[in-house]
Amino acid sequence: MANIVRRPDWYIPESQVTPEAVFRNRRRFIRELGLGAAGISLLPQISPAAETAPPPKGYPFKRNAAFNPGWKLTDQQVAESYNNFYEFSLDKEQVRLLTGKFTTSPWPIEIKGLCENPMTIDAEELVTQMPMEERVYRFRCVEAWSMIVPWSGFPLSKLIEKAKPKPEAKFIRFETANRPEQFPGMTSPRTARYPWPYFEGLRMDEAMHPLTLLATGFYGKPMPKQNGAPIRLVVPWKYGYKSIKSVVKIEFVAAQPKTFWETLGPDEYPFESNVNPKVPHPRWSQATERVVDTGDRIRTQLYNGYADQVAKLYPGA
Ligand code: MTE
Repeated sequence: MANIVRRPDWYIPESQVTPEAVFRNRRRFIRELGLGAAGISLLPQISPAAETAPPPKGYPFKRNAAFNPGWKLTDQQVAESYNNFYEFSLDKEQVRLLTGKFTTSPWPIEIKGLCENPMTIDAEELVTQMPMEERVYRFRCVEAWSMIVPWSGFPLSKLIEKAKPKPEAKFIRFETANRPEQFPGMTSPRTARYPWPYFEGLRMDEAMHPLTLLATGFYGKPMPKQNGAPIRLVVPWKYGYKSIKSVVKIEFVAAQPKTFWETLGPDEYPFESNVNPKVPHPRWSQATERVVDTGDRIRTQLYNGYADQVAKLYPGA
């Protein structure tokens, strides 16, 4: 008995991991997964230049062994071409194609509000100052699709420690860049009325939780624009809309801040928004999810599989 290894509840056996060679041969990969023409049409062609470009400085960062459970990663091209980033478009497959004008360097981030050490720091500087690592996380969108992504980044808690929040700071508010000239969705007829710029919030204990990341890249390279370059939040036990992209402002506040989606639909997108298969969205079930690249339907897990780590934050739940 003593030798039995207790697997975390999110463990997937090695036998289910797709061999790396399959990833290298994209066409065979698609065939093996049984994706038909519909699946293929969703995917962009990779240019030879993109395949042979040298890896950017620092990347890939060392994968943290505690977050490397051997899951089959989501096909990278699907993760990069099926995006929710309403500043560009409501159409997931259009987002990537509309990012041409979006400039992500320099990228000053303002850290302010109830803290001893407010600062403005560039995203590129953070990459050199923070303890960068790679972590494989599940990611679950409120629309009932999911992916498994290797993020590069650092715990948000490390930046919070630098800013030294005051005791009265109970929440953190995040804001995305406000650039109507670069984000066509901010002025397009269908989305111009939205309360731009995109904003989100976390309780301080959620923000300080070791799972909460500020991610500057994924799949061993800097973040693609459509995935939230140059820096985004990743909160893996909450629905994906909490993971705000292209962050320019981080503010310590005393009262629970409003969020973008809560403002648009308070009954559908509450502040907390923890993944819970037993609490349906008012318009659809959350009991299962579609694995975004394979199309498989799997059961959704409480807190997206991170209950061991985060259930203690929600004692009454
Ligand atoms: N952040 C901003 N600024 N704008 C957005 O529209 N969409 C959210 C979240 N962060 C969004 C955002 C939603 S609904 C999801 S599911 C994830 O980003 C999608 O991240 P991905 O495109 O990298 O998969």
